[in-house]
Amino acid sequence: MSDPIFEPLKFRNLTVKNRIFRSNVAGRFDNYDGSGNRARINWELKFAEGVVVSIIPSFVPVHDRGRIIPNYATIHQDDRIPFWRALGQEVHQHDCKFIMQLSHSGRQRDIPDLKYKKGLSSTDKSDPLHGFECDRMTKADIKEVVAAFAEGARRAREAGLDGVELHGANGYLITQFLSSAINDRTDEYGGSLENRARFVIEIVKAIRARVGNDFHLQMKISATEFNDALLFLRLEGSGNTVQESAQVCKWLVDAGVDAIHVSTGSAFPHPRNPAGTDIDVNLLSHTYEQLASSGTNTLRNLLFFHGHLTGEVFRKAWVDAGVPKEKIEGLSLGDSHIIKQAVSVPVLCTGGFQTASVIRRAIANKDCDAVSMARPLIANNDLVKQFAAGRDQAEKPCTYCNKCLIHVVEHPLGCYDESRFPSREAMLEEVMSVFRPPAYT
Ligand SMILES: Cc1cc2nc3c(=O)[nH]c(=O)nc-3n(C[C@H](O)[C@H](O)[C@H](O)COP(=O)(O)O)c2cc1C
Ligand code: SF4
Repeated sequence: MSDPIFEPLKFRNLTVKNRIFRSNVAGRFDNYDGSGNRARINWELKFAEGVVVSIIPSFVPVHDRGRIIPNYATIHQDDRIPFWRALGQEVHQHDCKFIMQLSHSGRQRDIPDLKYKKGLSSTDKSDPLHGFECDRMTKADIKEVVAAFAEGARRAREAGLDGVELHGANGYLITQFLSSAINDRTDEYGGSLENRARFVIEIVKAIRARVGNDFHLQMKISATEFNDALLFLRLEGSGNTVQESAQVCKWLVDAGVDAIHVSTGSAFPHPRNPAGTDIDVNLLSHTYEQLASSGTNTLRNLLFFHGHLTGEVFRKAWVDAGVPKEKIEGLSLGDSHIIKQAVSVPVLCTGGFQTASVIRRAIANKDCDAVSMARPLIANNDLVKQFAAGRDQAEKPCTYCNKCLIHVVEHPLGCYDESRFPSREAMLEEVMSVFRPPAYT
């Protein structure tokens, strides 16, 4: 009997050879101004060479006011196209697809660049964690950003990539419009679910008008938001339910979306995404220092990250709002099942997957059509190859320690769980391998 993991999956405009996507991840490998470089190509090739057949890269800003952090490559102007074309061509040599994640930060940023002190959002309330300030978008702003998404899709197509994904999840701009907890507008973009969905539906229609119907377009969505998961951040409501998100997905499909990618959590990071076993507050105190100082909640957050007692309060609140280790793998499958029943297009699910038998079962139960993996592939770049060879799990699976996530604000992305390596030197050697071959070759 054939293995469901290695059955091809057919979308309207794209066919992929197996049911595992490399989920969106990238480190600060690119140049400060958002132009791409060799390290980013080296990074993506690690997975293409590990026989991942479809990669969805990280947050790619469609507008320079929509950047979350310097050193992430953008697609906001035509001079970015040659870089993405070069990256796509190298990935394609491994028979791997590349679906660009079109993104806009809105109010949720990590480290603002020199140009824009304030973000743009559906609201003018600062983000509750860091207190990054934002301006409420005017109709003219909305029009400009909708057009920027359409131009981003056009550029991705011109670069020869295989499709685009709208980053409608994890608290970024599209979520800020969709969310009943964040969106406090009184015009036609706020209030009812239909009004809150208007922004993303306009984006989908603008993309279809710009690139036609024969280019793959999918949407990543936080099906359940859990916006009030953290006790000390209960300044806003709980946000959208999976039933509301299922309705949004139906509208998205009617407007021209070819697949849904199910995630969870109204912010990034969120205790449930990426769901971890713990949070290393001592490490946070080093790498999140600049984030804490860039928003307006500096004193509170520095206390959380630096004080022994307050650090413990933060750690406990974060862990309590998450899920136990044994429930991390496939934590969004319930939501994904509900959305799959609501829509006619394939559904991808993200969150904790790293066991072949679990993935097979999810597909067989019709919880999803495919899964995406982030940390398990950071830990084991060749995990898909290992599944193909008959292994159920890697010898040293991802421990969900989330050190990769906490390091990434300051350091190159990679696995930082020393317990998975023979030595600290071996771990750092692997992390730094993204710079080989170097940028000047
Ligand atoms: C370091 C890191 C960076 C991430 N960056 C993005 C991103 O840019 N866009 C996105 O949609 N998700 C991002 N994610 C979330 C992952 O794509 C994934 O959905 C989530 O980590 C759950 O999957 P996992 O358990 O396989 O890691 C990131 C996750 C990590 C750990
Ligand atoms: S640091 Fe390594 S083991 Fe820990 S969550 Fe990240 S990839 Fe997994």
